[in-house]
Amino acid sequence: MMKYLDLKAINKPYEHAADEVLQSGWYLKGDYTRRFEEAYADYIGTKFCVGCGNGLDALTLIFRAYIEMGVMAPGDEVIVPANTYIASILAVTENRLKPVLVEPALDTLQIDDSRIEAAITPRTRAIMIVHLYGRCAYTSLIGDICRRHHLKLIEDNAQAHGCRFVEDNAQLHDCRFVGYDGVSHRQEAQQLTGSLGSAAAHSFYPTKNLGAFGDAGAVTTDDEDLASTIRAMGNYGSARHYVFDHLGRNSRIDEIQAAILLAKLPHLDADNLRRKEIALLYINVDNPFIRIPQSLRDSVYHIFPVFSPHRDELRQYLADNGVQTEIHYPIPPHKQKCYKEWGTFEFPITERIHAEELSIPCHQALTDEEVTQIISILNAYHHQ
Ligand SMILES: Cc1ncc(COP(=O)(O)O)c(C=O)c1O
Repeated sequence: MMKYLDLKAINKPYEHAADEVLQSGWYLKGDYTRRFEEAYADYIGTKFCVGCGNGLDALTLIFRAYIEMGVMAPGDEVIVPANTYIASILAVTENRLKPVLVEPALDTLQIDDSRIEAAITPRTRAIMIVHLYGRCAYTSLIGDICRRHHLKLIEDNAQAHGCRFVEDNAQLHDCRFVGYDGVSHRQEAQQLTGSLGSAAAHSFYPTKNLGAFGDAGAVTTDDEDLASTIRAMGNYGSARHYVFDHLGRNSRIDEIQAAILLAKLPHLDADNLRRKEIALLYINVDNPFIRIPQSLRDSVYHIFPVFSPHRDELRQYLADNGVQTEIHYPIPPHKQKCYKEWGTFEFPITERIHAEELSIPCHQALTDEEVTQIISILNAYHHQ
């Protein structure tokens, strides 16, 4: 069976980092955490990075801190893509803010920027973009809308560590990667996701492009007040020892995770490039029953999604032929029981993406031979 993701192989070279922490005898709020936060802020291109327990906490703490700072209040609205992982939306509702769901575009799979302005009301305080599947969701129009309407731009960068915003993305839309080498000079000069808005949340869940050996997350921002409020909120509400200015919680990155992430970070760009090489092979899939992403939004290919109206049959066929796959995600947020009040909402594009999406293996431990084999298996598929 070709695994969807071979974490054992990917993580083997970094096991020594965990040992170093065990030898040190220091487990929280230590040198590795400080060094990782500095290195990650430097990599992303922001002034501050605050480590926290996981990606959901990172997102939740951003909104909690804005409420604490008086920038937002319960009942305010946050625009979010309708086709995201549930955590993006949980962070909003947990703060008693109101998520306003906006459809994605079918070609980019990202929030459709042309629909955003119609969703803005006097209570809108922020737009959350989610760089889903590792693709940059930011557009110049979104930045412009935020400036004109004085909205915070929050990035959910759980899936896109190392992804760059390419300003003229729109012009590249129909290229289908043809003639695109993935490492153009123009790209190198561009800003990373996680530094494009007011604040960004990152998840280092083990399956992510930069993955820990357990749960971990971080917030990046240039806003010093926000960074210090988040740091205090994640430390029981305390900025000074045993002095509690906020009703906080405990959400910190631990030294083992920080040491592992610090060891992995220098390899992230190379790992992402390998994912890109694999993606460039996958676009050769040629089968009328399978649609591959048309748009060339820049991506670090956290997930390589393919689409089929016969998704479940295709998934079974691939399993029968030794290829493990995943679905991201089978049920859209507005159809989940936890948000049953949205059950009558209709988001046809979101629903279609959720019904047709299938994620095929795409990670740095795959060999070219394995990718070629997966492509031949995909090409040989026929709808029964
Ligand atoms: C888009 C998105 N947002 C948020 C999260 C939450 O991150 P975590 O699992 O670290 O809480 C995830 C990952 O699981 C995610 O994929």
